[in-house]
Amino acid sequence: MDSCIYPPAEDTFLLIDAIVDDRDFMQRYFMSLPSLFVEIGVGSGTVTSQVAASCFDDHAKTLYLGTDIQYPALHRFQQFVPSVATEKQRIVEVVQGDLLTFLRPMDEWVCIFNPPYVATEEEEYWRGQHQRSDIATWAGGILGRQLVDRFCQQLCELTRNSRRVLLYLLLVDTNQPTQVMQFLQTNGNFCTLEINHRRVGWESIRVYRCWKRSFSALK
Ligand SMILES: C[S@@+](CC[C@H](N)C(=O)[O-])C[C@H]1O[C@@H](n2cnc3c(N)ncnc32)[C@H](O)[C@@H]1O
Repeated sequence: MDSCIYPPAEDTFLLIDAIVDDRDFMQRYFMSLPSLFVEIGVGSGTVTSQVAASCFDDHAKTLYLGTDIQYPALHRFQQFVPSVATEKQRIVEVVQGDLLTFLRPMDEWVCIFNPPYVATEEEEYWRGQHQRSDIATWAGGILGRQLVDRFCQQLCELTRNSRRVLLYLLLVDTNQPTQVMQFLQTNGNFCTLEINHRRVGWESIRVYRCWKRSFSALK
């Protein structure tokens, strides 16, 4: 695989398990089934392809949108994911873009993000983002949070008037996830809950479900 493409790893599979196991919540939250999934930073395309293939057996009308800043990842996604999803008659599209900048406000959708979360010097983070090299697949800057923080700001802004928005976000303890969750609660009116975690070496990786507070009765 091209070195600019993040190969599926433990975090990838933890995220997939969390989302697939959360089907019941999704159905209750959307009062049927979500019609749009957007994955930011698709990398190898494994998350979207697995979710599209295994989340909802009887729902062919869902659009799965994948985005990344890396062209090699998008090229692979374009070739690999539709062939997996077509068996299930899913609609899959790919867009080159920086985080959520390509999206307009929408009322109901699911967002998935396994960000570059490794703590690095700020300079290394910017190098990855600007040169769009393999560094961008893992370098997260100070506390591994610089891209996560930009993403959360964009998400809160974009979903200000949305009704049902559901985010699955993967973080590691170094990112200080509690602060990230507090930001989403305060600035985006999101409820948040940790739904999966695993210890990998010295780091704990965690998956959070974040959903618009108007539906906080759902647990
Ligand atoms: C940790 S990898 C996750 C890849 C894949 N989703 C997975 O779970 O295996 C992070 C991904 O985010 C992408 N990325 C980095 N900066 C980005 C940005 N500003 N906008 C969109 N994607 C970005 C990287 O290219 C990489 O594919």
